[in-house]
Amino acid sequence: MVEKLTLNSLATALVVIPAVSCLFLGIILNQLFILKICPYVSNLPLFSSLQPSPQYGIVLDAGSSHTAMYIYKWPADKQNGTGVVTQHTECHPKGGGISSYAGQQGEAGRSLKSCLDQATRDIPRARHHLTPVYLGATAGMRLLNISSPVQSAQVLKEVGHTIQSYPFNYQGAAILSGQEEGAYGWVTVNYLLENFIKYGFVGHWLSPGRQTVGALDFGGASTQITFVTKDEVEDKRDRMKLHLYGHDYSLYTHSFLCYGRDQVFKRLLAHLVTAQGHTGNMSHPCFPAGYSVIMKVGTLFDSPCTVAQTPSSGYNPQAALSVEGSGDYDLCLGNMTEIFSFHSCPFSQCSFDKVFQPNVSGSFMAFSAFFYIHQFLQTTTGILVATPAQLEEAARAVCNMSISEMLVLAPHQKPRLQDFCAASVFTKVLFTRGYGFDEISFPRISFQKKAGDASVGWALGYMLSLSSLLPGECVGLRKALKPGAWATLLFLFALLLTTTLMYVSLQACRGKKKGNSDIAS
Ligand SMILES: *[C@@H]1O[C@H](CO)[C@@H](O)[C@H](O)[C@H]1NC(C)=O
Ligand SMILES: *[C@@H]1O[C@H](CO)[C@@H](O)[C@H](O)[C@H]1NC(C)=O
Ligand SMILES: *[C@@H]1O[C@H](CO)[C@@H](O)[C@H](O)[C@H]1NC(C)=O
Ligand SMILES: *[C@@H]1O[C@H](CO)[C@@H](O)[C@H](O)[C@H]1NC(C)=O
Ligand SMILES: *[C@@H]1O[C@H](CO)[C@@H](O)[C@H](O)[C@H]1NC(C)=O
Repeated sequence: MVEKLTLNSLATALVVIPAVSCLFLGIILNQLFILKICPYVSNLPLFSSLQPSPQYGIVLDAGSSHTAMYIYKWPADKQNGTGVVTQHTECHPKGGGISSYAGQQGEAGRSLKSCLDQATRDIPRARHHLTPVYLGATAGMRLLNISSPVQSAQVLKEVGHTIQSYPFNYQGAAILSGQEEGAYGWVTVNYLLENFIKYGFVGHWLSPGRQTVGALDFGGASTQITFVTKDEVEDKRDRMKLHLYGHDYSLYTHSFLCYGRDQVFKRLLAHLVTAQGHTGNMSHPCFPAGYSVIMKVGTLFDSPCTVAQTPSSGYNPQAALSVEGSGDYDLCLGNMTEIFSFHSCPFSQCSFDKVFQPNVSGSFMAFSAFFYIHQFLQTTTGILVATPAQLEEAARAVCNMSISEMLVLAPHQKPRLQDFCAASVFTKVLFTRGYGFDEISFPRISFQKKAGDASVGWALGYMLSLSSLLPGECVGLRKALKPGAWATLLFLFALLLTTTLMYVSLQACRGKKKGNSDIAS
């Protein structure tokens, strides 16, 4: 009897005290965003109701080849903090980018509907009207704005109308400049890696004193390079100063229009056609052996990136062109190098196409299509691609594969298999000859598509910058709970602790008394 009672009270104490402490510690730690100890606590109805409901934001990333929608969320009263915005959900509608619907009345707007419908379900109804929604279009629309400014304005107007028919807080639809696209990508990378500031254990935002990471982005119609540099940026168009959390960052950023994946493939074909003639059969060294395709010659010269190369004599855009892959790494490399211009440079040094670039420095993150190319190279060849020599070896091996060999190794990539040799060779030329990554700097590139749970791209940086989520100055500690709630919690904590202690000592006393009488009898 004695042992049982004492054991009971001991057990109670052992269970109740840690549970109560954990509960409150959990709430407090949760406010500090390091809730790792009692994750279940924040899900209890009582405690989740004490937390302010999250705020949401939507970004539609209208790329050249497809649109993506990202929904972000953050604690409602942590507006000016950092590291607090996370990705809630994402959506990838079927079909092409909005620029591909040029001239098709209503189609560009319609292409966004499935994702916007999803957004109305992913975000609680009460928050709809408070949720900002941004649409940013990139190189596909930049090209359309060159070839047909009227159609480009029409497409933008139309997607704007569609978004406004939803209950969200519409913030506009715009075409980002290449410089903006590069800088927002860089902001996203460093925000997600917590390189700006980090939430310290003692409840202060700290400057982690870390170097920032450069950003390498590869879209359908353009590619961007952005990094912090100490060197002078000789071309002021590539210079950008950012003031974030009380720090100055001096960026080099350049976006190469027509150097996105689809435009590179188009320019490569146009280059081969110009060299080999534009009728009948053509050999393509970057297509795998065993692959062939028939296309209309006109489709190669319909873009501002290739229109200047349109054959001048005897050109019939409707003529059929039969292209056959030969899978020859060296000839592919030779032709690919020719779509870059490494000749004259009006500055002290250039990457290519007369574009100034300081020496690359620090670590980099390569994302979007770079990630998929790198992953394909590693998985199909088994070569770890961490140096320029390994990149060449893997690209050589991929270019040497026939289409049927590729299909065995990567069946799920079937519609894109023919493009991996060209994409790999392009990456090699761009990184090593263009940007100047060498044996020392190349291993410092990490190929990633996500950091934490969020996709890496310009979208998050764009939303952070256009809302008040990215302050120029240092931020102080912000409590997520209202002072009243804090007081209530502290009071409850004290009350529970006292009750528990009283209960435990009472039990212990009673146990002792009983024990004494037991001995006496
Ligand atoms: C965030 O900063 C902006 C301007 O710097 C200010 O107007 C706003 O009230 C701040 N929000 C919070 C929640 O402190
Ligand atoms: C289209 O290009 C012109 C000329 O560069 C520019 O002024 C205009 O702002 C662009 N349109 C949009 C919607 O960005
Ligand atoms: C480009 O490819 C064609 C066809 O395979 C080939 O004949 C030519 O030599 C290549 N050019 C270079 C510079 O390698
Ligand atoms: C850039 O790199 C080259 C070759 O590695 C070197 O010769 C040059 O001094 C570097 N320039 C700067 C400004 O560091
Ligand atoms: C290319 O593939 C052929 C067989 O298809 C093989 O004999 C050759 O060694 C390969 N070359 C390289 C460089 O891998």
